[in-house]
Amino acid sequence: MSVEKTNQSWGGRFSEPVDAFVARFTASVDFDKRLYRHDIMGSIAHATMLEQAGVLNTEERDAIIAGLKDIQAEIEAGQFDWRVDLEDVHMNIEARLTDRIGITGKKLHTGRSRNDQVATDIRLWLRDEIDIILGEITRLQQGLLGLAEAEAETVMPGFTHLQTAQPVTFGHHLLAWFEMLSRDYERLVDCRKRTNRMPLGSAALAGTTYPIQREITCHLLGFEAISGNSLDGVSDRDFAIEFCAAASLAMMHLSRFSEELVLWTSAQFRFIDLPDRFCTGSSIMPQKKNPDVPELVRGKSGRVFGALTGLLTLMKGQPLAYNKDNQEDKEPLFDAADTLRDSLRAFADMVPAIKPKREIMREAALRGFSTATDLADYLVRKGLPFRDCHEIVGHAVKYGVDTGKDLAEMSLDELRQFSEQITDDVFAVLTLEGSVNARDHIGGTAPAQVRAAVQRGKELLAGR
Ligand code: ARG
Repeated sequence: MSVEKTNQSWGGRFSEPVDAFVARFTASVDFDKRLYRHDIMGSIAHATMLEQAGVLNTEERDAIIAGLKDIQAEIEAGQFDWRVDLEDVHMNIEARLTDRIGITGKKLHTGRSRNDQVATDIRLWLRDEIDIILGEITRLQQGLLGLAEAEAETVMPGFTHLQTAQPVTFGHHLLAWFEMLSRDYERLVDCRKRTNRMPLGSAALAGTTYPIQREITCHLLGFEAISGNSLDGVSDRDFAIEFCAAASLAMMHLSRFSEELVLWTSAQFRFIDLPDRFCTGSSIMPQKKNPDVPELVRGKSGRVFGALTGLLTLMKGQPLAYNKDNQEDKEPLFDAADTLRDSLRAFADMVPAIKPKREIMREAALRGFSTATDLADYLVRKGLPFRDCHEIVGHAVKYGVDTGKDLAEMSLDELRQFSEQITDDVFAVLTLEGSVNARDHIGGTAPAQVRAAVQRGKELLAGR
């Protein structure tokens, strides 16, 4: 990156060049150059429209478009000299265009401003990112459905307060993550609609005196609508905040999921194995196999929450319309999108490779009196009020704790000490299978319901 004589396209009213440090301090090219493709796309649409509006002639338009395409090739070949003194991606590309095609290059900026240009570029960029992220969510959800289907009958302890609560099927547990991701998907689809509106034509803040035809650029760029107010168009970044909010929720979900994977792979739980390729070892403790991927995703959630807070703070004090503050929107937004995309990618790759340890999950479910609620429900069916049943089962559990027996391990006589209503049909409800099979309604943990939910999930994904 070279720093040469100071600018530039706005130098006319200045009597001394910008201080070299200030030039670096105010420049954004180091990070906004990644918008180059969308910047060029926007410029090609703008030039096309200017010709149709009679502002450029055909030769000028063609020269501009060919020049922009050559510049894109230069950038992609790594041959573009990004200059900090040219501030940002927009002026770097425009200056290079003029280098290449001469004076006609200077006509490209007719009827627009960097203010509507950058607002357009970020929206185009974010729209693409959202599409990639949606694809990764779907891939992860496919993995969850596959695993849930295979584990529809696998019983594990379900927890509340991280204490054994009731048996659930592992498939059912996995589908809880599927549901959360479905809502994340919906939120991003919704955010995409508001991202996909075109500010181009707002110019600096008030619109432009040229006979621009915004419907043309809107159509060429595939926007769904044209922004209805030029002041709002150049200054608002609520779509970026909305994206970071949706991304934060998705990362929060992935972080919770990570926490479970970390717990489940620990020697204390041993519910699952993660393949070695998603883990690393320790340089000092030879036995270690650390679940780095989920740990990192859990840690990275903080970056995205930070981006959300950063962008809200960035916007809250700004008067209309564009302010240079807005240049600070990019790094948090880029980082949030990169982090979410990479985290989803890692999870989508990793989830189908999770190896459940069915026997260990089952043993864990047999401990901790996980079928105590089933015994209470059984007594309710025998005609007792639920509160009394709760009390009776409480006594039975206390006896179990003292004698080291789970409910299903007690004899009928032992159980009958607590209620005469208990007969030998009780053992059917005290088994793990009896417990999960009994929760047989939409959203319940019964294997049959897991299979039905997997089916609904497959249909949902097929409709995307
Ligand atoms: N680099 C600037 C940004 O990211 C582009 C817009 C600059 N506009 C201006 N009037 N200085 O926001």
